[in-house]
Amino acid sequence: MARRRWDPESLPDLSGQSYLVTGSNAGLGYFASEQLARAGAHVIMSGRNPKRLSAARATLAGRVPDADIESLIIDTAKQGSIRSAAASLRTRGPLDGVLLNAGIVHPPRRRETTSEGAEVVVATNALGHFALAGELLVPLARSGGRMVWLGSMSISLTPYDPVDLQLTEEYSGWRAYVQSKVVTTALGLEADRRLREHGVPVDSVVVHPGYSTSGRTPGLHGVNQPSKITRFVDNLQTPFTQSKEHGAWPLVRALVDPSISGGQIWGPRYIVKGDPRRSRLPRIVRDPERLARIWEACEAATRTRWPFGAASVAR
Ligand SMILES: NC(=O)c1ccc[n+]([C@@H]2O[C@H](COP(=O)([O-])OP(=O)(O)OC[C@H]3O[C@@H](n4cnc5c(N)ncnc54)[C@H](OP(=O)(O)O)[C@@H]3O)[C@@H](O)[C@H]2O)c1
Repeated sequence: MARRRWDPESLPDLSGQSYLVTGSNAGLGYFASEQLARAGAHVIMSGRNPKRLSAARATLAGRVPDADIESLIIDTAKQGSIRSAAASLRTRGPLDGVLLNAGIVHPPRRRETTSEGAEVVVATNALGHFALAGELLVPLARSGGRMVWLGSMSISLTPYDPVDLQLTEEYSGWRAYVQSKVVTTALGLEADRRLREHGVPVDSVVVHPGYSTSGRTPGLHGVNQPSKITRFVDNLQTPFTQSKEHGAWPLVRALVDPSISGGQIWGPRYIVKGDPRRSRLPRIVRDPERLARIWEACEAATRTRWPFGAASVAR
């Protein structure tokens, strides 16, 4: 029988599946959570701020009245927050997938550090997710689950090699952002290679959302309330941008489509916008030695070793 064409507006039934989304109180994370919940999945919405998280949860519940959702505080810039959230998640039911979405998309002009001393953009976007995914590896392996990492097309435009992960020498906001996305993409690919090497039944997939802006996204109380100027400016860019609602399409597909394999990169059909399709591997992440080096740098920065051995026998 021919495989049904993927329709991001009519997802397969996801009842009985459970997914964690980081940064789900706004932007792509919110819309991914809503799309998953609409398809019947159990969604654990997470965010760093209790008020913003509960506002988003209320909005989602209002739009999807039978949504099966819960919420959990996770600040991806704080290792302590990650470890305690993961401990709580390990006591809950099965976990089928994790969408590692949270991120700083407007980095500070000058270098800032977290309370633990790490450069804040790489800590939030990459290091926190590296630690979280490692903490959740065993429950994901039990379900034969999947982790999805947020990359960006910016890594093809300015392919910075993160030799200085913490940017102690040459900081700029753009460099911090792009580097953090080189790191997340590298981690997603290297994770998949290591998962296979250790026989762990978890897929690691990388995804990017094209160019998805707030001003092109429906206004939602507590979730997306752009100013008139943002709407005006974002609408001027209509030919090469899309809404965050549509930007969430490849994220959701990467998380739930069984035909997608680990080690792949997905994004919009027309690079900046469109239906999900498989993307080419950006040049900066094609060198296996670079991927291994980035992995080891993240292990050292977070003092984390993924429990591959325990995960390989978890099922
Ligand atoms: N939009 C695009 O065109 C685009 C392109 C390429 C990649 N991406 C990636 O897609 C992801 C989402 O982007 P977006 O456009 O949806 O951005 P967004 O609208 O600014 O949303 C970012 C989300 O991340 C959360 N977040 C930030 N710092 C956090 C922390 N320390 N702990 C937990 N959550 C935190 C935010 O929570 P608060 O509300 O508390 O700040 C918010 O929920 C990011 O990883 C971004 O790099 C986006």
